[in-house]
Amino acid sequence: MTGLFITLEGIDGAGKSSHLDWLAQWFRARGRAVTLTREPGGTPVGERLRELVLHEAMHVETEALIMFAARREHVERVIRPALDAGGVVISDRFTDASFAYQCGGRGLAEERLEVLERWVHGDLQPDLTLLFDLSTQAATARRAGVRVADRFEQEPDDFQARVRAAYLRRAARYPQRIRVVDGAPALREVRAQIERLLAELV
Ligand code: TYD
Repeated sequence: MTGLFITLEGIDGAGKSSHLDWLAQWFRARGRAVTLTREPGGTPVGERLRELVLHEAMHVETEALIMFAARREHVERVIRPALDAGGVVISDRFTDASFAYQCGGRGLAEERLEVLERWVHGDLQPDLTLLFDLSTQAATARRAGVRVADRFEQEPDDFQARVRAAYLRRAARYPQRIRVVDGAPALREVRAQIERLLAELV
């Protein structure tokens, strides 16, 4: 069996996390070995970098470099071995998040990240990216009171709006890989959308 690399993306509160376990079960029920992981994080080093980058103020380029440092470790130790073994890797965020947040949200030039992307995973891209899309107002309402907000969740609505726009631009640029899921309807309806996309993939 060949490995399958699936990533979930979207602005904070768009609902991707509600579907992670279900998605893993969907593949396990079909006999696939599933690795469920996340970024930033997914390794011991990556999780420590996550703590740092989500909670300490820093320059945007430092932020981007930390995201890719964590990603290097993640690709090497988790993603690549699982794919080589024929497994399904489901990652809660990957490089599209860096383009959306560091470039779209914070204004970093995309050329900077293109260099890092080639360096860190030049020959590896997700087979499918589910982009959960939701208005910033609805996403903010969903996030309210759920837990303590990290540095990105504390950003104002216009930051989230720029992140969302950057995600949608990437989806338009890579329509085969990045599929937009409407995050607005009830959970069951969102799930039905995902199942239709999975049916195309497997
Ligand atoms: P998130 O995935 O939303 O986790 P949780 O659901 O636990 O809050 O948190 C990760 C945050 O990191 C999110 O706000 C987006 C940000 N991020 C970037 O800015 N760049 C990146 O490359 C990645 C992977 C995440």
